[in-house]
Amino acid sequence: MSLIQWGVDFYTGLPDIDEQHRRLVALANRLADTPRSDADVLARAFEELRTYVIEHFSLEEKQMTEAQIDAEHLQYHMNAHALFAAKVTDLWGAYGRGADGTFEELLGFLKTWILQHILHTDRVMALRIHERLGVNAPHNMFTHF
Ligand SMILES: [Fe+2]
Repeated sequence: MSLIQWGVDFYTGLPDIDEQHRRLVALANRLADTPRSDADVLARAFEELRTYVIEHFSLEEKQMTEAQIDAEHLQYHMNAHALFAAKVTDLWGAYGRGADGTFEELLGFLKTWILQHILHTDRVMALRIHERLGVNAPHNMFTHF
């Protein structure tokens, strides 16, 4: 069973971001499914996820900046991205030092954060971008409000 199940509620209506979210979820699932006994493959899976996350955050931040959404959300959102990247790096480092339970903690954090972030923070971002661009948001965006 996958760490994160992709669902229709994940769509923000921003095609580039939706496509990247799908890949992000796939990379998190791949990390979770990699046998921990295979340290090299596990390290590559983590590094690919970490690199992709940073690239993805840049795209979101670029789209928010270009759409000139409100500074308060932009700042909040960028802080959330920075905290996520720092926490994931910390947990991976702790796992590498052999700290008990840190891989499970990393997977739990990835799952919770990615779900909450896509379903809440990124939806708010998408609404703000759609408002600024004068585009109607997809109907499924309102199911969680
Ligand atoms: Fe985001």
